[in-house]
Amino acid sequence: MLGESGSGKSVTAQTVMGILDAPPGRITAGSVRFRGEELLGADPERRRLLRGESMAMIFQDALSALNPVYSVGFQIAEQFRFRRGMSRKDATARAAEMLDLVRIPNAKQRVKEYPHQFSGGMRQRVMIAMALALDPDLLIADEPTTALDVTVQAQIMDLLDEQRRERGMGLILITHDLGVVAEVADRIAVMYAGRIVEHTNAATLYARPAHPYTRGLMDSVPRVDDAGGVRGAPLRPVPGLPPSLTAIPRGCPFHPRCAYAQDVCVDEYPPLREVEEGHAHEAACHFAERFVAEGPDRPATQEVVSG
Ligand SMILES: Nc1ncnc2c1ncn2[C@@H]1O[C@H](COP(=O)(O)OP(=O)(O)OP(=O)(O)O)[C@@H](O)[C@H]1O
Ligand code: SF4
Ligand SMILES: [Mg+2]
Repeated sequence: MLGESGSGKSVTAQTVMGILDAPPGRITAGSVRFRGEELLGADPERRRLLRGESMAMIFQDALSALNPVYSVGFQIAEQFRFRRGMSRKDATARAAEMLDLVRIPNAKQRVKEYPHQFSGGMRQRVMIAMALALDPDLLIADEPTTALDVTVQAQIMDLLDEQRRERGMGLILITHDLGVVAEVADRIAVMYAGRIVEHTNAATLYARPAHPYTRGLMDSVPRVDDAGGVRGAPLRPVPGLPPSLTAIPRGCPFHPRCAYAQDVCVDEYPPLREVEEGHAHEAACHFAERFVAEGPDRPATQEVVSG
């Protein structure tokens, strides 16, 4: 799941997990299906059971997601005690194993330490250990590497990817970094103003981006060519700012920032729809088919689209 700050990624993830604060949050429409089961409107007890056991989440801010007054071992062990009925001793031993699994050195000692005693990267590993403790089928990682430096980011992504593969677990990775998703994601959903504006597999998204916003995101990061070099085009951030989600522009929400906007874009909301037969490629743009046909080297700043 990819999108700028404020595009609604975290709120969407919280809705899937069933932890959206309501009020102020309110779910007015839609559906969350997990293994065929509708979760919106499901019994809160059922939701609580699924959390941890079947789906777990790593939060954007690891420090505030951990309780500062308990050791990390205690916090991981709690799940084994309350969900698996383990003794405190066994649960703590399992917690140390989990820390070891996420490659925290000297896990047996560190299990007794408190969150503030860990570096940002190590804290994120603790969060991953906690999320994986009950062996969930789905892990949602909300910007798990944003606050970390580049080397540590890569290590955390490698760890997540490895665990995903070894466990056969689904991973929903939330990020504003196109480079990060490109490497690990099978399918990418681009979000704008609280909605998905493009959804397809990684190869199709790169080869034939259908939504001008996706194209804008691509132009704002360095692109690597087949030979491994960086293409010469200058980097261009998407102009303007994402809208406040309490004042979403009418018509296409992207129209105030879109170089291709026409009258119809101001008047009519473009729903997400299939735009490329046989490629499971969906986009929410009136002119998506044209952009797909033009491919990724279409200039991002063209002023007018006729028709
Ligand atoms: N579907 C929605 N409808 C109405 N408001 C929304 C919706 N989704 C998100 N919001 C509001 O928009 C704001 C930003 O949403 P959110 O925190 O999910 O963004 P984000 O993409 O996770 O941003 P960041 O990258 O900064 O973490 C929140 O204050 C939230 O209340
Ligand atoms: S519908 Fe119009 S404004 Fe929206 S992205 Fe497409 S061209 Fe741009
Ligand atoms: Mg967020």
